[in-house]
Amino acid sequence: MAEYTRGNVYQAAFDPKAYLEYFKFGEGSVGDEYLNFALKHYCKAFASGDMKGDTLIDIGSGPTIYQLLSACENFKEIVASDYTDRNRQELEKWLKKEPGAFDWTPVVKYVCELEGDR
Ligand SMILES: C[S@@+](CC[C@H](N)C(=O)[O-])C[C@H]1O[C@@H](n2cnc3c(N)ncnc32)[C@H](O)[C@@H]1O
Repeated sequence: MAEYTRGNVYQAAFDPKAYLEYFKFGEGSVGDEYLNFALKHYCKAFASGDMKGDTLIDIGSGPTIYQLLSACENFKEIVASDYTDRNRQELEKWLKKEPGAFDWTPVVKYVCELEGDR
């Protein structure tokens, strides 16, 4: 019998493609409001300069990178990590610009605007 752990539940039930539907920014998805809120706050938090260093480790990144964008200027290296294979594969697909990778362009553009195109 399969062991019932939170990790197993995520591995089986967390669908990166379905989750990413919320991040199709500007398409009227229910995620627009969340992204507006989160990106503004990440921008403000990292622009303060209080959070900076060599390495930022994001635990439980899921298949997303929006949460890391405003941190890019503050850290030399950013490590995205996740428990599930499918989430890590989704991130790798984006990193390698493979066909079918999620298009973060609208989100990146918005973050650039928020940061005054710095
Ligand atoms: C709700 S998603 C959040 C994704 C992303 N950070 C975001 O802000 O949209 C939570 C993620 O945490 C991961 N996770 C849960 N427990 C974990 C653990 N112990 N170690 C690493 N990742 C974990 C899950 O696989 C899932 O992708």
